[in-house]
Amino acid sequence: MNAEHTSLLSLRVSVDYANQQGVLQDVCLELKRGEILGLVGQSGSGKSTIALSILRLLHMKKGVARGLINFSGRNLLDLSEREMRSLRGKEIGLVLQSPLSSLNPVLSIGKQLREAWRIHAEGDSKLCSDVIAQTLSSVALPHDKDFLRRRVSQISVGQAQRVLIAMAVLHHPSLLIADEPTSALDVVTQTEILDLFRKLNQKLGIAILYISHDLLSVGAICDRIAVLVAGKIVEELPVTQELRTTSCAYLQQLSGFIRTP
Ligand SMILES: Nc1ncnc2c1ncn2[C@@H]1O[C@H](COP(=O)(O)OP(=O)(O)OP(=O)(O)O)[C@@H](O)[C@H]1O
Ligand SMILES: [Mg+2]
Repeated sequence: MNAEHTSLLSLRVSVDYANQQGVLQDVCLELKRGEILGLVGQSGSGKSTIALSILRLLHMKKGVARGLINFSGRNLLDLSEREMRSLRGKEIGLVLQSPLSSLNPVLSIGKQLREAWRIHAEGDSKLCSDVIAQTLSSVALPHDKDFLRRRVSQISVGQAQRVLIAMAVLHHPSLLIADEPTSALDVVTQTEILDLFRKLNQKLGIAILYISHDLLSVGAICDRIAVLVAGKIVEELPVTQELRTTSCAYLQQLSGFIRTP
């Protein structure tokens, strides 16, 4: 990623849940267009809370965010729910940890992709089929009738994660939030999915907020890393090529941050 990218997301936010105060304390993050930012931190440090704040889904967990979440020039905290609905899945895509539970078990893969397309787009079914075929091939999945007719129980977990990623990028969002997207996968599939994120970033210019416990994977694909400890950002570091190749000491240093309560 080069340096002249403009700001896509800039947030300064504090979050309380109904029975837990100060879950995020004045967390500041900035993500430029086309950039991959890794967000690491121990379990319970507030990583998913940041993702839910950006998507304005905290109310589902009885949480409240205060502050500013500036996305493409708009403060998301000021938008109506209707405006947020038109933004989720279109301008901001989301990929979660468990592909099997994120997909509908009774609908075919094809039907779920068509539904995801029609939420934000009009146009004939030929256009819809073309976009789906194109997107499936961009995530290295087949797009023949046999595959599209299958249900989630008839594909592998790695394929299911690719389907979810396809859904998340169907409308070419400018931001993709990936919350622990590889933790349900075996090591080989994890590497393939990481490669896929990198390709989508390079080919489509999608900025990614990549949330993970896995420092090696974060070091492999991210431009910068932010470290969250108990609801506060304690460190933000660029990932240089040198650090990618000789990353041991660096990753140990980060591990130290993550283990420090
Ligand atoms: N609905 C809720 N009500 C009260 N506290 C909550 C709620 N949801 C999460 N928390 C608390 O908020 C803190 C941050 O949770 P969050 O899920 O953001 O952590 P995380 O960094 O994503 O962890 P993990 O790596 O395990 O996914 C934790 O202490 C958690 O117990
Ligand atoms: Mg989480």
